Amino acid sequence: MSSILTTAQQRYTTKAFDASKRISDAQMVEIETLLRLAPSSINSQPWHFVIAGTETGKALVAQGTTGAYASNAPKVLNASHVVVLCTRMELNGEYLQRVIDQEDVDGRIANEAAKLATYKGRSLFLNLHRFQYRDLQHWADKQVYLALGTLLLGVAAMGIDACPIEGFDNALLDEALGLRDKGLSSTVVVALGYRSESDANAKLPKSRFPAERVITRI
Ligand SMILES: Cc1cc2nc3c(=O)[nH]c(=O)nc-3n(C[C@H](O)[C@H](O)[C@H](O)COP(=O)(O)O)c2cc1C
Repeated sequence: MSSILTTAQQRYTTKAFDASKRISDAQMVEIETLLRLAPSSINSQPWHFVIAGTETGKALVAQGTTGAYASNAPKVLNASHVVVLCTRMELNGEYLQRVIDQEDVDGRIANEAAKLATYKGRSLFLNLHRFQYRDLQHWADKQVYLALGTLLLGVAAMGIDACPIEGFDNALLDEALGLRDKGLSSTVVVALGYRSESDANAKLPKSRFPAERVITRI
């Protein structure tokens, strides 16, 4: 079996973290790089990642896990680090230009004509979502979920446990982190760290639909 498949089979949603265990700074740098390396449509990278690695930071994130979401609060507070994956709310021409300028700096663009053509092609696509499909924000959220998938599989390969969390109050979390003033909004949260011995979920077998149900070979 390939090692990536072993990782996919062994990773699981950690429901209880050992608060005494901390991810090393070197591994956190790797995780930051992993997040930045996630692919996105037209390389749009419509995201920002807030990483809470202090008690103060985690307490701020936990402000989003109150009321109906209280069961997720201990996951946030006992994790080593918590990543808040945010979506960028404004994706205009100026932002697209920044993406292409970065590609230019990174050596992907041959000359000014190619740069202009790249801008034109991608703004066509962006405007399709903005004006025709009218799903620009939803489309941006989908890109953020690619970073989520990259993160979940990536950290598992590094031997780090994770709990993806959609169960939080987006308005409260945005307020606690001051996201909206920065043109951002929280989309999904991931608690990272190491499982507690008391985590009952660690002992349960994985459950997925069989291949016949979810795969069609043509
Ligand atoms: C986007 C997303 C959001 C989730 N939100 C929560 C959550 O709020 N709380 C929680 O305990 N688990 C949450 N989960 C965990 C899922 O229930 C879990 O991934 C699923 O049951 C499959 O189990 P596994 O991750 O252990 O393979 C979430 C998972 C994903 C992918």
